[in-house]
Amino acid sequence: MSEILVEGLHRLRGEIGIQGSKNAALPMMAAAVLHKGMTVLNNVPRIQDVFCMMGILKSIGCKCSLDGHTLTIDASEISQTQIPREFLTAMRSSVILMGVLLGRCREAQAGYPGGCTIGKRPIDLHLYALKEMGTQIRETDGELYARTEGLKGSEILFSYPSVGATEQAVLAAVLADGATLIQGAAREPEIGNLCRLLNHMGAKISGIESDTLRIKGVNELKDTVYDIPGDRIVAGTYLYAVMAAGGEAVLRGICPAELNRVFQTARQMGAKLEWENLPGASFIKVQINDRPDGIWVKTSPYPGFPTDLQSPLMALMAAGNGNGEIRETVFEERFGTAEELRKLGARIEIQKDRARIHGMYPLRGETVQAADLRGGAALVIAGLAAEGVTKIQNSHHIFRGYEDICGDLQALGARVRYKDLIQRPYTKTGECTRNL
Ligand code: EPZ
Repeated sequence: MSEILVEGLHRLRGEIGIQGSKNAALPMMAAAVLHKGMTVLNNVPRIQDVFCMMGILKSIGCKCSLDGHTLTIDASEISQTQIPREFLTAMRSSVILMGVLLGRCREAQAGYPGGCTIGKRPIDLHLYALKEMGTQIRETDGELYARTEGLKGSEILFSYPSVGATEQAVLAAVLADGATLIQGAAREPEIGNLCRLLNHMGAKISGIESDTLRIKGVNELKDTVYDIPGDRIVAGTYLYAVMAAGGEAVLRGICPAELNRVFQTARQMGAKLEWENLPGASFIKVQINDRPDGIWVKTSPYPGFPTDLQSPLMALMAAGNGNGEIRETVFEERFGTAEELRKLGARIEIQKDRARIHGMYPLRGETVQAADLRGGAALVIAGLAAEGVTKIQNSHHIFRGYEDICGDLQALGARVRYKDLIQRPYTKTGECTRNL
């Protein structure tokens, strides 16, 4: 059983670099499959979801090698167009490979990705976009079979700015015949990064960072080397960790402009923030002396407050001073961490899509269970503000998105460590080490 132990009530101080972005890396790895050649991605985070995606790319015939944080993908040959079910179950975002395989091979097969601990997570918008572009899709026994005579450029109007469905439509449109107009597109920075990578590869995408994307289909792409940006959600997690423990820190290697709404919450809670947005020299500096105040926050699609930082913020407010409220509007079941925070003494009331938090400091160290990636990180944050030792079990969820949360926080002076590391499901070459 993978566990993380946190000894609380130690102030933090120091400087760390932020890992590459998980949610930018995954669609970029999918984009590499569109090209019958080499794509090299730098600053790739060494996390379980990347290793899982490497396993999928290898299973369809790509060659992948990860040397340090540099991932080389050779997609010259595609040997099969079925995404193995065990990978899709482990990582539902791999469904975006359907559009890539339809664009490259005119067919794709994938298991219907299920829901997870944060919600049902349907893919109706993904399938709508692929059908609009000329794909026939049938479902048999939970398996999706998609075929096309050739993807056609079309007009796509999303009823909701789904990140994954936008990535799906963009990836499918790159090699389609004709032009595609995507309206109601998600505006998360990961979409902009994906489009910039694709344009580096020879795609023709305009409207980047807006909710209206225009993609002119091309016949081929070219070898490319690209740097993955820092992970804004990891940076926000560590920002809240410093606020929970008290102290000051400098976080390097991210784009502060992507965290505007998060900075607003930190300042409202009493933190002193400075940041610099110089290419290659960007940083955020956070300093806090008193306990953070409770505030009112609503999650929403970018540029709103990111749902992925909702549970880390809940943990911070639980150890704060005063009352706060969080309204979750993106996922319907994303308050699961509250139950575990209550075991640490947190006072949280959930009513439908709202969580009311009554700050309590210090919390008390106990044994708790991580149930998902960001909820697990939230429990680490709470442990930093708890008396005694907090033991976080099932911490393998955290390794999906955080390369080394213990090492990073230790570098800031936190007393936190892994205990009894399990054999992680995926090796660093993408082999699956156990049945999932
Ligand atoms: C991406 O998931 C991220 N994952 C999530 O991060 C993130 O929470 C989410 O975007 C929102 O920002 C990756 O990028 C790998 P959505 P995705 O499609 O694409 C509904 C993390 O912790 N919806 O924008 O699945 C859906 O049910 C993960 O790093 C439909 O109704 O998110 C949800 O309520 C967790 N139909 C809402 O849209 C669809 O076809 C947002 O989902 C698709 C989505």
